[in-house]
Formats: sequence, structure tokens, C-alpha cells
Amino acid sequence: MATMTKTARTPQIRQTQCFIGGQWVPSVSGKTFETINPATEEVIAQVAEGDAADVDLAVEAARNAFEQGPWSKMDARERGRLMHKLADLIEEEAEDLAQLETLDNGKPIRESKFGDVPLTIDCLRYYAGYADKIHGQTIPVRGNYFCYTRREPVGVAGQIIPWNFPMLMAAWKWGPALAAGCTIVMKPAEQTPLSCLRLARLAQKAGIPDGVINVVPGYGPTAGASIVKHPGVDKVAFTGEYKTAQIIMRDASQTLKRLTFELGGKSPNIIFADADLDAAAQGTHVGLYLNQGQCCCAGSRVFVQEKVHDKLVDKLVALNNARKVGDPFDPATEQGPQVDKAQFDKIMHYVGLGKSEGAKCLTGGERHGDRGFFIEPTLFDGVKDNMSIAKDEIFGPVLSVLKFKDVDEVVERGNNTFYGLAAAVWTRDIGKAHRLAKQLRAGTVWVNCYDVFDAAAPFGGFKMSGMGRELGEEGLKAYTESKTVTVSMD
Ligand code: NAI
Ligand code: MG
Repeated sequence: MATMTKTARTPQIRQTQCFIGGQWVPSVSGKTFETINPATEEVIAQVAEGDAADVDLAVEAARNAFEQGPWSKMDARERGRLMHKLADLIEEEAEDLAQLETLDNGKPIRESKFGDVPLTIDCLRYYAGYADKIHGQTIPVRGNYFCYTRREPVGVAGQIIPWNFPMLMAAWKWGPALAAGCTIVMKPAEQTPLSCLRLARLAQKAGIPDGVINVVPGYGPTAGASIVKHPGVDKVAFTGEYKTAQIIMRDASQTLKRLTFELGGKSPNIIFADADLDAAAQGTHVGLYLNQGQCCCAGSRVFVQEKVHDKLVDKLVALNNARKVGDPFDPATEQGPQVDKAQFDKIMHYVGLGKSEGAKCLTGGERHGDRGFFIEPTLFDGVKDNMSIAKDEIFGPVLSVLKFKDVDEVVERGNNTFYGLAAAVWTRDIGKAHRLAKQLRAGTVWVNCYDVFDAAAPFGGFKMSGMGRELGEEGLKAYTESKTVTVSMD
């Protein structure tokens, strides 16, 4: 880690308070929490720790903006214009935002710069274009009536996001909410509050009226749960662990809130003998190790057809051996630290289980360096379906290779999980590819590619990987209510 001090940047930390009704305010309790640089384990800043009282204020501001404020009266086209302005301001500060994201989250600067920031901008622009294109239908009903539907904003949206793509997750949630005309109370993850707070500053600079976007940093069971329980919040959009979603569903039942969930996965990545093996190896490598393995859609169960198993595993091992782990601010770095000690410990626990349950560790399996939460790119071969590493979401740089013989077998094994977020198929047989795309029970299926995302393409899970979809038109609909209007023509 000797290079760390040479290349580490320190972007200015300007926003560390709650953003409520257009004001930067300390938490009502006066409490703060530390956010940490996971590459050095050093404290970056103290951030206001919001709780129920702060959420009350934020919801009040959001309700006012929704019901009385300029947002409620604003022309849809003007809403779109402000969203475009926000995207432009993010673009102007792209370099700084990328550094802030890398500092707080630990992800390599080349990913923040060429992945997170551009995707954030693209998502906001995509939904900005939707703002004035939200409309209902006219419906031919029986009798002398004119019947039509309107699509109206659902109201105040409570948005709770995780730490793996902090800025991008904010954009995935703000984009459709703002386009639909909702107002927002967001709680960023306690591990990574900084980029979201910076975006709030830029939203204000763009001219998005005060109270439309409110940000309350803090912890899940306090600030998060207060948003979920608040009667003034109409909808909760959550990304994170399925166990947290279960708590949120219970907490939301009192007020019967609309819920959308984007949860985890144990996604099967299936490689047939007839695939382009170099492309498959490369896609499999990225599909698991991207973002330190901290991706909900990580291809963590790699099913390889027997005939090409050895060849493919050799390629995967070579890619791991060449992978550059280290200082996330070094432009050459491909893998930084895990986000925090809790995630580091969880992953190392699973690495231990992989070894003790009899899988063969071909690369990694150890901590990298002695400072920061770095883990070597780890590859287990000879993994069996019933091992813990094949069943549980690890959310780290740990890839499991499982062998299979034929198509029906791999479909059944691939689907044998309570998750259903993503799946991938590598083959040159187009019929087989489409057959599997149909048979795999997952919200996204990639064929001969992995991790291809687009703001226009819906994303979300079957089974316990989620509820509803984000992105695309479906993502927008989740922020609207449909109203039926019937007019007598007598
Ligand atoms: P988490 O689900 O607890 O945290 C995500 C967000 O939910 C954070 O903002 C957190 O403060 C909030 N939260 C926590 N408890 C809450 C509650 N009772 N009410 C309202 N909000 C609450 O996930 P965590 O603990 O950070 O990570 C645990 C595991 O979850 C990871 O190891 C990974 O397996 C999975 N995960 C999946 C993600 C995904 O993208 N699907 C993202 C993050 C974690
Ligand atoms: Mg948790």
C-alpha cells in the first residue's frame, strides 16, 4: 500500500448535514457518525445522523413541495428541463464526483469515472425526457360516458439506497420520481453518504425547488425505519438485502405503502461448450469481480459444461492472476477494498466455509495487504450445489465454478434458488440461447454478455430478488397512480 499516499486525492467534503427543505441542517439530536475511507480505514468526515425527528421535518418539506409548492404547479416540460440541468451540472463536476465516490466507497477511480458518473448522468437524462410524456388512455365504456385515465405522481417517495453504487442508485431513484412529479425523502447508506449529499447540492443549484429532494443520512433501523413507517410517505423504494426488505414490508403494512424492492441474487452464469470461451471467460470475470463483487446481479454461480471445464477454468485463473488490486485512486487499479469491515468479515467467513466444505481454492482466499478492506480475487472450483458458497449471497470477490453435463440439468440447478435477479448464457446456438432465456427464472437474462445496463431497460427480480422494476417505462410507472375519470355526456 506504499503507493497509496502518492496517488490518493482528497476531494473537498462540503456537504455533511441533512438536506431538508433546501436547508443544510444538523440532525435534531446533534448526533453525527463517521464515514470511512475503506482503502485506508481513516475517517473522512463526520456526517449528521438523522433519526425520526429529522425524517418528520423532511417529510413535512416533501409534502409541502408536493401539495402546495412550485413542484405541484410546474409544467411537466419545465420539470424535465430542470432534470437536464442537474445532469449537466453533474457532468461539469464529473471528475470531482468520481473522486468523492472512490474516496467514500473504495471503488477504482476508472469505474467511478467511466461507469458510475456517466451512468448517473444518462439515467437522469433518460427520465428527463419522460417528464412530459406521461399520459393515460381514453377508454370506450358502455353507455353515454367519456372515460379516461390519468397517470398522477404517487406522492412523497421514501427512497432507501445501499452503498455499492451510491450515486447511481440515487439517480435510479430520483430519475423516475422527479419525472413523475413526486417529491423525495432519501436515506443514503450509512457507509457512503457523501455523493448523494453532493447531488442534492447540485439539484438545488439546478433550480429544483426546495423540498422536492430531501436527504436524511443515518442508519437503517432509525432513519430508514422512520421513513418506512411515516404516514406522510406514500411509497418506499428500497435497494438492499432481502432480510431488510422483509422488515420494511412489515413496517409498511400499517400504512399500506406502495413498495418496490431491488434485492440480492445468486445469479447463474451458464457457459456451454459451444461458446466463444475467451469472451465467456472475460464476461464471467467482469460479471463477478466488478465493483469488488459487490453487485446484486453478480454471476456468483458459474456453471461450466464438463467438456470445456478445464480450459475455461485455466482462463479464469489467468485473469485473476493478472487482476490489479490496490489503491483505488491509481488509474490502473481494477479492484479496490470492500466497503467496510462488516462486509470484509462476511466475505472472509464465506471463504473459510468454501475451504472447510471442500471446494478447491484456485486463486486468492486471503486478505490483500495489511491496511484497508482488500480481499484477493478468489476462485473456488469443484463447488457443489449444497455448499454455503453456492447458496448464499457473498457480495464479494468470490467466484464459484460448478460443472454440468446437459441443458435440462443446468436449467433446473440454475433455478434452484430463492433468488431470481439475473442469469447469463454463453453459447453460439441461438435456439438454445432463447430457450434458456425463457426457462431461467430471473428478471434479467444476458446472452453472450454480462452486466449490460441501460436506463431504458427494466431491471429487477423474480422471487425473493425483488418486487417491481426499476429503469425504463416500468420504472417510471412505479412512481405513478392511475386515476380513472368518467364523465357523463348527457
Ligand atoms: P441493508 O439492506 O441492511 O442496507 C441497505 C440500506 O437499507 C441502507 O441504507 C440501510 O441503512 C438501510 N436499512 C437497513 N435496515 C433498515 C431498516 N430496518 N429499515 C429501513 N432501512 C434499513 O444491507 P447491508 O446491511 O448494507 O448489507 C448486507 C448484505 O445485503 C450485503 O452483504 C449484501 O449481501 C446485501 N446487499 C445487497 C445490495 C443490492 O444491491 N441488492 C446492496 C447492499 C447490500
Ligand atoms: Mg443491514
